[in-house]
Amino acid sequence: MAALVLFGGGGDLAMRMLLPSLYFLEHDGLLPDDLKIIGAARSDESRDEYLAKVRAAVEGKAEADDAWSDAAWGRLAGRLDYLAVDATDPESLKPLKDRVGDGPTTSFLAVSPSLYGRIVTALKAAGLAGEHDRVVLEKPVGRDLETFREIDDAVAHAFSENQVFRIDHYLGKETVQNLIALRFGNTVFEPLWNNLSIDHVQITVGETVGVGDRWPYYDEYGALRDMLQNHMLQLLCLVAMEPPADLDPDSVRNEKVKVLRSLRPITPDEAERVTVRGQYVGGVVEGEPVSGYDEERGQDSDTETFVAIRADIDNWRWAGVPFFMRTGKRLPEKRTEIVIQFKPVPHSIFDHGDRGALAANRMVIELQPEEDISLSVMNKRPGLEQRMQLQPIRMSLSWGQNDRDARPPRRRIAYERLLLDALAGDSTLFVRRDEAEQAWKWVDEVSDAWSEGKVRPQTYAAGTWGPEAATALLASTGREWNTGH
Ligand code: BG6
Repeated sequence: MAALVLFGGGGDLAMRMLLPSLYFLEHDGLLPDDLKIIGAARSDESRDEYLAKVRAAVEGKAEADDAWSDAAWGRLAGRLDYLAVDATDPESLKPLKDRVGDGPTTSFLAVSPSLYGRIVTALKAAGLAGEHDRVVLEKPVGRDLETFREIDDAVAHAFSENQVFRIDHYLGKETVQNLIALRFGNTVFEPLWNNLSIDHVQITVGETVGVGDRWPYYDEYGALRDMLQNHMLQLLCLVAMEPPADLDPDSVRNEKVKVLRSLRPITPDEAERVTVRGQYVGGVVEGEPVSGYDEERGQDSDTETFVAIRADIDNWRWAGVPFFMRTGKRLPEKRTEIVIQFKPVPHSIFDHGDRGALAANRMVIELQPEEDISLSVMNKRPGLEQRMQLQPIRMSLSWGQNDRDARPPRRRIAYERLLLDALAGDSTLFVRRDEAEQAWKWVDEVSDAWSEGKVRPQTYAAGTWGPEAATALLASTGREWNTGH
């Protein structure tokens, strides 16, 4: 019998994401029949108390999705157990080992990363790191390359690399996987997917939420380490990588590592030109007045809640094509998108004037709030005007508008895909050690430049798209952030 152990089983990640994901998988009949799930945490509570908490966390989410069913809950509750443990102590893990039995055990560490090293060592001592066992690590693993290596060395002492599943939940998002299908399941895009046809790429992850009571964690990490080092660089890799030989974990991850290794290092002097840091002050978001970061935190801080960076990939495919990335809290809308901006036509046969300028083709890969991929193309406006009138139209390339009835049920939470894959031992959508190392290496150069005082955070009013300098980052190259949607 296989087991999934959620360390930190009563914590925020487990209650907000993991257990609701497991419920949805149960609801859709996708969990392996014999899977046992054990919530493990420090607090001494009974199974019934734990189940009541889980139910409270799951029910609202399921109802909002029209997916609550007593039968599905009954099945999930039937396989769910709770055990109070100190996960850093092998003695305390003994009853857990007895409870999971001899089947393969997947340990999901949804706890503070500062405990990862001690927990994996204890898992090994308790017999929970056998050759069929696995460990899932939630980000952030480390705060820089050095601390990442410290933690990961401890992990490598207990588990071999093919047993380690480093989660980046962005890779579980449906549209991210669809990007792979779009690029490598079609012939029409790949020949254009290079510096001959593409002018630049933009990646935006905008959030309306503030840092709120997460600041003890956030203040130490900031937007660069919280979002860019992982989620955004992963998106960049999937846009930029070469076609993998196969969809197996190593083929895909080999290609991603090559992209990360080709990222041009950002020197301290360059950092002033190509990076922007911001921190929100009070403003209005979605009609509600909100406080600034320093007020939430109760004292002044230099931590950035917004970052914009120009990345250059020094290889044949992407030479001369800038990748602009921006992410921030308290922006005007929750919006995650990748924009592939194609070059303008080399010569226009349409006399512009009153007919409007030709808009270059643009592909928008939208991850949030909707999941959609669209391409804007120029079209003749229908009519009998003497002078041909052109207009851009947007074609949806994904399920979005094409065939609502045939659309399969949407996965509600990115963790659903990743939990299933970890249970099945498929690490394609997880981050390999050398990938994480390369990403840290690049990000460390930026943070080193920042800590030399090269780039200070500039304020932006909550509810705006970051500091002016973020607009200038593109404007200085004659480009602008996508606003059309
Ligand atoms: C997490 C970050 O990894 O991703 C959070 O720690 C952020 O700060 C979250 O809010 C965003 O995820 P999503 O899926 O809502 O875009």
